[in-house]
Amino acid sequence: MQPEIKDTLGRALRDLRISLTDRCNFRCTYCMPKSIFGREYQFLPKEQLLTFEEITRLVKIFASLGTQKLRLTGGEPLLRKDVEILISQLAQIPEVADFALTSNGSSPIKRVQELKDAGLRRMTISLDSLDNKVFQEMNDVDFPVSRVVEWIDKVVEVGMTPVKINMVVKRGVNEDSILPMAKHFDQPDTILRFIEYMDVGSSNGWRLDDVLTAKEILNMIHKEMPIEPLKANYVGEVAKRWRFKESGNEFGVIASVSQPFCGDCTRARLSADGSLYTCLFAIQGHDLKSLLRSGASDNEVSESIANVWKKRSDHYSEVRSSKTDDLPKVEMSFIGG
Ligand code: GTP
Ligand code: 5AD
Ligand code: SF4
Ligand code: SF4
Repeated sequence: MQPEIKDTLGRALRDLRISLTDRCNFRCTYCMPKSIFGREYQFLPKEQLLTFEEITRLVKIFASLGTQKLRLTGGEPLLRKDVEILISQLAQIPEVADFALTSNGSSPIKRVQELKDAGLRRMTISLDSLDNKVFQEMNDVDFPVSRVVEWIDKVVEVGMTPVKINMVVKRGVNEDSILPMAKHFDQPDTILRFIEYMDVGSSNGWRLDDVLTAKEILNMIHKEMPIEPLKANYVGEVAKRWRFKESGNEFGVIASVSQPFCGDCTRARLSADGSLYTCLFAIQGHDLKSLLRSGASDNEVSESIANVWKKRSDHYSEVRSSKTDDLPKVEMSFIGG
């Protein structure tokens, strides 16, 4: 193990989020709007994707640099063929203390057990409403909400608890779903997180007016269901933790627009085609795939990652302003949510 590397703001490299594919079977209007991600859209060809061997090798190198938290994401990571094989390889890396996957919960239900058997420890499911009409309008492919709810129930049943549920809140679109979601997920096995709609990528037509802030969301809940704050589990936790006073069950808010958390951001991202991004809002990545494919040694790859990290100064959410509106940004489905 090498000494911990820090970026220019003193932040360590603790988490790695890997996008396994830029494809998704949903077209959530805030992430992959159909107007951009239509039939003509060119997704990455297979040979551009990192292979499972390359991913496993990279994770081991990141682990030797201090990475302890790993999340598989996308796009929809479960669209990647044989992902269970990759999961079983990654689950054996001892330094990885926390290993999770983010999914839209649309795959056949039998896969839940297969993922658990492969060694996955935690799952986060995206769900923006329990109202079928609202949900279908948001996923924009008419996917029924009942299937996602069944998936969540199954994850609870196999014991991968607590299951985190991510709800992106967009003003005027699903704010009426906040209370029904809060009530439904007021239970010990799930942790619902309300996420402020963010200006990721350049295709979702984001406007500040569309953001319902964490404060507004919390006020809305508190009127019906009294709530109180909880202490953070660790420094740099993305979600602010709360609980429903009556039941004691936990939920959270992710306020990356109104209360940015860049100061403690220890997250690196690996895009599906093997580039390293040091911020969700980065304009450019650092090509690790070419380095791997050129025959570089583990030491050389490690040094290259460390050099990128040491130069890192990203803190986009803290400087977001009208000046950043028109900057080109990488799509979240590519870089990994
Ligand atoms: P755990 O603590 O591991 O359960 O995960 P998490 O709290 O990091 O949550 P998750 O990985 O599910 O991320 C939830 C959402 O938070 C993402 O989909 C993004 O919308 C947002 N998010 C996560 N990381 C960042 C980040 O580094 N910057 C910003 N601006 N938003 C982030
Ligand atoms: N704002 C906030 N979160 C987003 N996600 C995708 N697009 C956005 C956005 N514009 C997140 C959601 C989803 C995960 C895959 O990515 O949390 O659950
Ligand atoms: Fe797919 Fe998730 Fe993006 Fe929706 S938010 S389009 S489910 S990757
Ligand atoms: Fe980290 Fe960039 Fe998100 Fe800030 S905006 S928390 S630096 S990923």
